Amino acid sequence: MLAIRLVSEPVRLDTLVLPVRPEGPDSPAALVPTASPPADDVRTEAAALLPVARLTGDAGEIREHLRPTGTPSRLVLLGVGAGDEHAWRCAGAALARAAKDETYVTVALPADGAAALRGLVEGLLLGSYRFRLTEAGGTPALAEVDVVVADPEALAPILSTARATAEMTRLARDLTNTPSSAKNPAWFAAQVGAAAADRPDLHLRVREPAELAEEGFGGILAVGGGSASGPRLVELDWRPADASTHVVLVGKGITFDTGGISIKPVPAMKLMRKDMAGAAAVVAAALGAAALRLPVRVTALAPLAENMVSGSAFRPGDIIRHYGGLTSESTNSDAEGRLVLADALAYANRELRPDLLVDLATLTGANAVALGKRHGALYSEDDQLATDLLAAIEAAGERAWRMPLPADYVEYLGSELADLHSSPDRGAGSVVAALFLREFTGDLRDRWVHVDMSAPSWSEDVHAELTRGATGWGVRGLLRWLATLG
Ligand code: BES
Ligand code: MN
Ligand code: ZN
Repeated sequence: MLAIRLVSEPVRLDTLVLPVRPEGPDSPAALVPTASPPADDVRTEAAALLPVARLTGDAGEIREHLRPTGTPSRLVLLGVGAGDEHAWRCAGAALARAAKDETYVTVALPADGAAALRGLVEGLLLGSYRFRLTEAGGTPALAEVDVVVADPEALAPILSTARATAEMTRLARDLTNTPSSAKNPAWFAAQVGAAAADRPDLHLRVREPAELAEEGFGGILAVGGGSASGPRLVELDWRPADASTHVVLVGKGITFDTGGISIKPVPAMKLMRKDMAGAAAVVAAALGAAALRLPVRVTALAPLAENMVSGSAFRPGDIIRHYGGLTSESTNSDAEGRLVLADALAYANRELRPDLLVDLATLTGANAVALGKRHGALYSEDDQLATDLLAAIEAAGERAWRMPLPADYVEYLGSELADLHSSPDRGAGSVVAALFLREFTGDLRDRWVHVDMSAPSWSEDVHAELTRGATGWGVRGLLRWLATLG
């Protein structure tokens, strides 16, 4: 991963990156004043370049200018738009992409550089992300970035927060991008073990099928029953001594979703290795909370199963007994996510008794139908909790939109055979799935948030700090939010 260092003066001036911003519709972009101003000749030259370069100053815009006999020998003008954290994140990602042939660059930051630094660092580390199983195709050359700020020591905590946030987002991307030939429930649990290994203050418990059966995790066992790779329940606990709040984060961990006996058609199955993006995000958030030593207890629960078609697969029409005893009638084995989540939510409520309960899941295709490709669908009964989490998600550069939990749709969950019907064919898919999950939250019902993040978990294109493939959606928002608790 890219090495980023804070300096008060440029150390080695090969390539200098200067921020520029818009000056209004009829004027060319202007240089942003920086903590350590460039030498007079460089500044004069950069100012003269601006109108010629036809820069608008919009975030992410970039022009390289060669100065064969000068120091620095390359000048990069980088649009930082409004100059806020979002714009710098976008600029950082653009720089990581554009500087693919450089190995070392120096970036000059404005004097009050905290927000700029956080955005720049996240943008650089997320925009340069590549998922590779082999060395084929090469990696970006950019290896070192010096960031010139007024007071390196004062900004060091911002750098480490941004770095940890990006590292954990990259981990979630890696887990989600991994093909399902490698990624079965046991593999995922082992990856969590490896990531938690060098942190003795993190506690990991992995339940295997026999233990799941003993304790009555009927939803996880039903969904995992059709696979040669048995299900798991990962419980990862960050428990700092000074915590007064306990948050449980639950993430859907279907390592591949064929749809089961209600098998998916080819186009819908294509990307179903990503169906554990919720599990990846909550595990990465708990690891991030530990890395940042946030004073809040965080338990990540990842119910992991592979939803396969086989002679031992569960069938449409089966009745499932979930953890805690509630039963559900399942008439579509492709509605598997809610079945594993139901067990984990009931377990969280009955055994862990947290103050707040949040689940993230690639739960329905209906998320994208309602909100398009970049917004998660957020559900909560509690206005304050919803507002806080939405604000954190937005501040972190992710997107979500609050959705309703209408009382008059609850009747759709009625079943003649079981306590609940898990996949009624009436009503809005994402909303009904949320209503089903709510039934398992017990008295935490109004301290619970569900986010259907099937749409924003994946990006078909390069967009600001997003690369193609897994986005790591949720890690940044959750870490921001967790940092406000305590
Ligand atoms: N994993 C899918 C949801 C999904 C769809 C995620 C597209 C990402 C992209 C989920 O398990 C599923 O199959 N949901 C069904 C629910 C239905 C059977 C009630 C759906 O959305 O069609
Ligand atoms: Mn499914
Ligand atoms: Zn699924």
